[in-house]
Amino acid sequence: MNVADTDRMELILFHSGYQRTQEKEDADLILVNTCSIREKAEQKTFSLFGGLKPLKAANPDLILGLTGCMGQQDGEKLLKRMPYLDFVLGPDQVEGIGKAVNRVHESEKPFVWTGFDSEKVYTIPEISGDLPQKPGASAFVNIIKGCDKFCTFCIVPFTRGREKSREPEELYQEIRHLIKQGAKEIILLGQNVNSYGKRGLNNPIPFHKLLYGIAEIPGLERLRFTTSHPNDFTRETIRAYRDLDVLMNHLHLPIQSGNNEILKSMRRDHTVEEYLELIDELKSEVPDVSLTTDIIVGFPGETDAQFQDTLKVMERVGYSSSFMFSYSPRPGTPANEFEDSVPEDVKKQRLQELIQLQNRLTEEQSNLYKGKTIEMLIEGNSGKPGYSFKGRNPQYWRVNATGGEGLYKPGDRVQVCIEQTSGHGLCGAIQ
Ligand code: 5AD
Ligand code: SF4
Repeated sequence: MNVADTDRMELILFHSGYQRTQEKEDADLILVNTCSIREKAEQKTFSLFGGLKPLKAANPDLILGLTGCMGQQDGEKLLKRMPYLDFVLGPDQVEGIGKAVNRVHESEKPFVWTGFDSEKVYTIPEISGDLPQKPGASAFVNIIKGCDKFCTFCIVPFTRGREKSREPEELYQEIRHLIKQGAKEIILLGQNVNSYGKRGLNNPIPFHKLLYGIAEIPGLERLRFTTSHPNDFTRETIRAYRDLDVLMNHLHLPIQSGNNEILKSMRRDHTVEEYLELIDELKSEVPDVSLTTDIIVGFPGETDAQFQDTLKVMERVGYSSSFMFSYSPRPGTPANEFEDSVPEDVKKQRLQELIQLQNRLTEEQSNLYKGKTIEMLIEGNSGKPGYSFKGRNPQYWRVNATGGEGLYKPGDRVQVCIEQTSGHGLCGAIQ
């Protein structure tokens, strides 16, 4: 989501004459688009600004802005801590980046501009014409913002506000525009894409209907979406996987924990059994589907036995890859009031165990691809010594390939015979 927001800000600034520099030393304006999902993300921001401070001291005309979720959460506090900042902008004010920069030019600084937009509908003003960069083969499209789930560990509902969907017509138009500019794959974005259509639409349609609508857009070759919530993930969406060739056979479905008591305390509002039922149904409709997930270890009160339940579920589902996190208390969230009872070293050890299991599962599954030919959408030059192109297969595995130089370009779909695996990726030769 932050990558998409950053692109959006770049687009707006590009239209008021700004261009991306290669080196931060050459910049007139530096924005740090921040994340506050875990404490570590916040620490990274502070250390990054530590490195930017001397640039500001050397050049007082340099504009320094902090945007994103940390801005929403900590506003004025950030100005106090980093008085050299010119402004702080919340994630719902991405569209206001041009105005924010103008305010600095008019010496109205420093300032904090946060809060949530009060419009009933969520529209992103269309910016036609040139783009700062041609879109890649794969492009993001925001379909819904905010989150109404309020999982007890999560700060997102506080930093990004309530759910609001964009009108389907606006989305179809944006996707047509991206395809005209060269995109082949569209990744629909939202904190909870399955909630699409529940709020803020004049002509409400559910998420799966949107998928069917988008699939008809000429020139679209691949469609994906992220992230999903098990409670809003419908049988109709499972059917969409079966019906729509462009919908790639991969689902990212966070489970967070494999234990019902922990899930309850996380306010995920579903059981492990309900989650597995969904997975089984999807696997039976779409046998070659790949699954990825998010997992938190060391949530308040998590016992060793409860952690073992998570390992069991992980093995049972057979994820191809996972985002695994150690629980990080977030100020203002309900879980912050629970006793953070799992010692840091236990959290660390559980995380290591989880990562080891995931590595084994990843290896087992990647080995199954050896000798098989898969389809890769070329995203760009490989960057890996000895390989020409990189891309992804339908199941979202990273693929590096040899051959095809001068014959193919980013955006082309090619057949690759997989010869070996490397960590979380597949390697092979273009046929
Ligand atoms: N601590 C650790 N992980 C978290 N996530 C969200 N909040 C926290 C937290 N407080 C993880 C969840 C979510 C992913 C985006 O980040 O797994 O799905
Ligand atoms: Fe956070 Fe996702 Fe839960 Fe929303 S659904 S509160 S974004 S973890």
